[in-house]
Amino acid sequence: MKYFDAIGALALLTASAAAANLTGEWAGSVQIPQRQSRPVSLWLDAQGDSLTGYMSSSQGNVPITNATASAGRVSFDIVRDYFGEERRSTYSADVDGDRMILHMPSFGGRGRGLDVTMKRISTATPKPLPPAPPKVSLPAAAPVPSNGLAKTPPMGWNSWNKFRSEVSDKLVRETADAMAGNGMKAAGYRYVNIDDTWQAGRDAHGNILPNERFPDMKALAAYVHGKGLKLGIYSSPGPKTCAGYEGSYGHEEQDAKTYAAWGIDYLKYDWCSGSTVYDYHSMQAVYAKMGEASLHSGRPIVYSLCQYGVLKGPQWGAEAGGNLWRTTGDIRDTWESMSHIGFDLQLDLAPYAAPGHWNDPDMLEIGNGGMTTTEYRTHMSLWSLLAAPLLAGNDLRNVSPAILAILTNKEVIAVDQDALGKQATRVSKTGDLEVWARPLTGGAIAVGLFNRSGAPASITARAAAIGLQGSGRVRDLWTHTGRGTINGEFSAEVPAHGVVMVRIDPVR
Ligand code: GLA
Repeated sequence: MKYFDAIGALALLTASAAAANLTGEWAGSVQIPQRQSRPVSLWLDAQGDSLTGYMSSSQGNVPITNATASAGRVSFDIVRDYFGEERRSTYSADVDGDRMILHMPSFGGRGRGLDVTMKRISTATPKPLPPAPPKVSLPAAAPVPSNGLAKTPPMGWNSWNKFRSEVSDKLVRETADAMAGNGMKAAGYRYVNIDDTWQAGRDAHGNILPNERFPDMKALAAYVHGKGLKLGIYSSPGPKTCAGYEGSYGHEEQDAKTYAAWGIDYLKYDWCSGSTVYDYHSMQAVYAKMGEASLHSGRPIVYSLCQYGVLKGPQWGAEAGGNLWRTTGDIRDTWESMSHIGFDLQLDLAPYAAPGHWNDPDMLEIGNGGMTTTEYRTHMSLWSLLAAPLLAGNDLRNVSPAILAILTNKEVIAVDQDALGKQATRVSKTGDLEVWARPLTGGAIAVGLFNRSGAPASITARAAAIGLQGSGRVRDLWTHTGRGTINGEFSAEVPAHGVVMVRIDPVR
């Protein structure tokens, strides 16, 4: 045997020995900060140097592929079907006897991965992967009649971005107090929306129960209404929400009636575990089901679809009864996330926005600390040009004057809330410099000169590109001053990651 063959054989032997040691069921618990912990188990079967098995979690059972094992280290891939797209993620683990640290990659490459401690709880050879339970397919649904709500994009606040599972009755009341008193209500903000983690489970009659953080939803709604504001809530068409709480599966009408009885005015309905029970090709019908249920709940309820824009959601959101629909995955409080969602992922969506029906590029991160004031101004300007819902996502009980000034800029909000309901389109792009324009009621045009680069730059908007015939008076919506007249083109110096946002009124 040649030297290298010997090394190879030795390596193979070690791999086999290492793999052989892995057979059995390994169990652990995934603890994502501020979400409910979720059990995960790994069933491994080591035969010679082959390692097979599957992973079991609330998302179902998925086989592992490409598994390799060498002394103390295992690696394998999991391939998932993400709404028709193949998503492969690579897992690895450090093994020490009956314990392993499983390194889980971040979902979709976003955010940080997670380490989970797994313990071997059985050395039995796993049984073959049980067949996946059949998925429910719903017949195509008739278009849900319009509920007549959200003639302009909803404005308000949502608990998720800042508070995750720390949302409570107390927080919602204090947020309503703040919104009513700090100028936001006067600027048009209305909805105070409870996101995920409010549910406890169901009573013997199947009625949804709030958990100990929400002792009395009806009283809470009355309190919020007493401030001249509205209350929103959150659920999922699947059995579980994204954070692992009780979803509405099989209780859609019952839940809609409960929400109405409590005095709820807005429902965000998040796909989450929907794919564990439904064939996702039925998604429109699944959303229509809750659309109908809310429509007949006995109370006007704004209906917000959260299905991340997959399967052409923006094209059928309105038919499913939606007043708004998410267009992307979750926003994070970073320039990269916000600018990618706002600039790159909304490009073809303008045709689907109209009074009563809005594209939702996700909630605002303004004031959460991960971006500069300049970047937050860009965030507010872009969302307003996009006719996006303006749902603040920060702690309203404690807002700096600079952040409050951004959130309550009435001239920018007037663009967002313009009655024509036309979403801006990108009219020019030169490297990192972009011009977006939106027609407004009465022939005016809102224009954003955006500098996505890291250095100040001069940006020019041409009259023909923004749809201006003749000349127009230019008003700066952040400095609240006139900027002269546009004749052919308008240029401005724009700071790095910043915006100059103007309203142009044609001179007739
Ligand atoms: C998903 C949604 C978020 C938020 C969380 C709650 O990730 O996209 O907006 O509602 O679920 O778990």
